[in-house]
This record gives sequence, structure tokens and C-alpha cells, in this order.
Amino acid sequence: MVAVLPLDLKAATVRRRGRHIIGPVTLQVKAGPPTIVLGPNGAGKTTLLQLFHGLVRASSGQVSWAVDMPQADLAQAYVFQTPTLMRRSVQDNIAYPLIVRGVARRAARRQASEAAQSVGLGAHLEAPAHVLSGGERQKLSIARAMITEPQVLFLDEPTTNLDGRSVREIEEMLMAAVARGTKVVMATHDLGQARRLAGDVIFIYNKGIHEHGPASGFLDAPVTPEAAAFLNGDILE
Ligand SMILES: Nc1ncnc2c1ncn2[C@@H]1O[C@H](COP(=O)(O)OP(=O)(O)O)[C@@H](O)[C@H]1O
Ligand SMILES: [Mg+2]
Repeated sequence: MVAVLPLDLKAATVRRRGRHIIGPVTLQVKAGPPTIVLGPNGAGKTTLLQLFHGLVRASSGQVSWAVDMPQADLAQAYVFQTPTLMRRSVQDNIAYPLIVRGVARRAARRQASEAAQSVGLGAHLEAPAHVLSGGERQKLSIARAMITEPQVLFLDEPTTNLDGRSVREIEEMLMAAVARGTKVVMATHDLGQARRLAGDVIFIYNKGIHEHGPASGFLDAPVTPEAAAFLNGDILE
């Protein structure tokens, strides 16, 4: 398998409807423990993740992977803040990315069934996805994103508004993926979660990357007053 990382941003900016949203951003996302994206509401966390994944285009600057685009596309997956599920069964939702990649239906469904069992959705295989609880729906969308064993998994605040048990189960899913070598890149507003998972932290403030470094350093001894205020729970405009 060819390594798609590092992901390289060089002076990348995003404009939307004529408004400067973020940038210029210059940074590298490297293989290894999770990269966690932090910052106040509206700072640009979602925009940055979508820029990484190619859902949003850079208005200027460059976003490049270690391999060419079709290959990089196949090696990454994205989990939206609100699960986007198909009007199909739990099993068919998880099997879908495999079928798109040409895996035979029977084999895809079998693999989907195993994946569902392993994350506690085994009793709901035939249930329509939309009848699941919020936590189950998000587990399903993560299981679907992970079924192709992507090298890079982007997640946008996947545990917002979920109960403690669902948060723990989702973090277990992510740690299992990390143990298999998946690079997790995740936005969160949950500082405890950042502490539990992060290898490095990207802190967005004032339309740019205000700090980027090892999680322990950032969380315990941030360099900038804005990061200190954010970690302290102060309101940042
Ligand atoms: N489609 C869009 N068109 C115009 N502005 C947008 C769009 N999406 C987001 N924005 C703006 O971009 C900024 C960053 O948003 P976002 O990336 O969603 O931040 P975060 O995820 O940190 O809350 C916000 O000011 C938001 O209003
Ligand atoms: Mg967001």
C-alpha cells in the first residue's frame, strides 16, 4: 500500500461567497497519532477539514497529498457532524462503500455484518438506518467510513450532543482504527476528548492556524494568550 500522507498545505486560503474564511494556512498532516482541530465556534474547523478532504477548494495556495488525487481520494473517508445515512438497512449502509469499490454484494454484506457486530450494532443489521438512536447512527456512519480501511479518517465533531456511553464507544472505535494504522483527523469542542485522543493539536483562531504542536504542550502550556483563554473556557470572539 502506498502511503498517502503527509498532506501538505502551502499558503492555502478559502473564500466563500466573496468572504475570506480561513488562511493562508501552511501545515503538514503526518502519519501517526490523531490530529485534533480545536477553535471557537465559527473559527473554521469544518472548513479546514473539508479543505483537507477536498470537499472545499482552496481559493489560492495548494493542498497536496504524497500520491496523485484519484489514489488519495480512495484512501480517505469523512464523517459529517450530523450523520448522513442512506434510506437502507444498517447492513446495506455499511456495505455500500465496498460495493462502490467493486466488492461482490455477498462479500460486502458479510464484511458489513462483521463490522456492525464489532461496534454493537449486530442486533440492528436489517433495521432501517433512520430508526437508530443518535449515538447508534453516528456509530453506523463511522463504521461505514472505516469499512474500506482508509489511511486517513476525517471526523467533524462526531460526538456532539451524544450521551457519555456513545462518546466512549465512538472513542473506542477510533482508537481501534488508530491501532490499525489509520490516521484520525478530528474537530472537537470537547477538551477532555482532545486530551484522551490527540497526538497533535491544530488551534484555529482569527482565520488562521494560531498554534499547531504536540497535544501535551498545547493543552498544558499553550503559547498564545488566545489559546490559554480558549482552554480556560473564556469566550473568544
Ligand atoms: N457555505 C458557506 N458560505 C459562506 N460562509 C460560510 C459557509 N460555510 C461556513 N461559512 C462561514 O465560515 C466560517 C467558518 O465556519 P466553519 O468552518 O463552519 O467553522 P467551525 O466549524 O469552526 O464552527 C463561519 O464564519 C461561517 O459562517
Ligand atoms: Mg464546524
